[in-house]
Amino acid sequence: MAADSIDFNGQVAVVTGAGGGLGQGYALELARRGARVVVNDLGTGADGAGLADQTVAQIVGLGGEAMVSRDSVSTPEGGSAIIDAAVDAFGRVDVVINNAGILRNGYFDELEQHDIDAVLDVHLNAAFHVTRPAWSLMKAQGFGRVVLTASASGAFGLVGQANYGAAKGGLMGLGRVLALEGYEHGINVNCILPMAATTIADNSPIPDFWHHAARWLPDGPPTGLAARRERELVAALVVFLCSRECDLTGEAYSVCGGRYARVFTGVADGWLAPDGPASVEDVVEHLPAIRDLSHYTVPRALHEEIAGVADQARRLAQGVAG
Ligand code: NAI
Repeated sequence: MAADSIDFNGQVAVVTGAGGGLGQGYALELARRGARVVVNDLGTGADGAGLADQTVAQIVGLGGEAMVSRDSVSTPEGGSAIIDAAVDAFGRVDVVINNAGILRNGYFDELEQHDIDAVLDVHLNAAFHVTRPAWSLMKAQGFGRVVLTASASGAFGLVGQANYGAAKGGLMGLGRVLALEGYEHGINVNCILPMAATTIADNSPIPDFWHHAARWLPDGPPTGLAARRERELVAALVVFLCSRECDLTGEAYSVCGGRYARVFTGVADGWLAPDGPASVEDVVEHLPAIRDLSHYTVPRALHEEIAGVADQARRLAQGVAG
């Protein structure tokens, strides 16, 4: 592929939490490729300067076009203000990257209610607050690209992150539904499960991380990952997902230690109970088949799961093996 063949000329991108970390990387790369970028972040640096201002200064310094938004993604008013600012300044919204984030880690029974609410608000609820006002614009123009930031914590689990894992898992469900609703309107929605060296975890460590990790990593920490945590690795995929060229939707991708891979929810062929009720003992007897992952499908919508079961039942009735 020719260098820089993907561009965002004429397009407007909103990146939340873009004052540093991954979001800043996305904003810089989008701007470098011609997008006008709304850099949203409510944070301030040690010198009191707005984090979003610093990103915008970098973009402008490189010859790009960007504006600052300091509203919080955590409220409906904040989300609307971010999208309104984009329209006021640039006249349209083509891309929304829901990226802003915080951590409030702790064991499930020790989390304070405000730790739960804050994390659900910044990650899961924020995706509604920011994406909904943009959605109607995207529908009207028949085009949009939305990225939701999920996490391996939500997909696979991590001790000490009940609030965060729930929010991130919720975003994966939201992505599935929005992809289906956006289909007829040219709006593609995908999830990213990133891993990158940022400061997000600096003030909120995982409780007893290595104690719990030892269950899965009996030989100790894996080596070789540290050098592969540059945010640019994640930006390469996210920027593609935002592009006109990308026709993927309803999918999720992990970028971890330099490995790019699709993450999916599949359903095993399982065990099809004969007509009539199944007992608890029937279920226990067939657990090996119910849990067997050697044959599975990845339904693109609820309807495909139902159709798959109907197909299995038909084959069973016809005496066709499998
Ligand atoms: P970061 O801490 O460097 O950046 C997050 C930014 O969001 C900060 O600049 C912060 O000021 C901003 N922010 C926080 N609350 C906000 C609010 N209410 N409104 C607007 N902005 C707000 O973190 P990082 O690592 O770049 O994370 C970006 C996203 O990626 C987050 O959603 C995070 O959960 C996710 N993620 C990151 C991973 C990693 O390895 N760094 C792993 C998995 C997910």
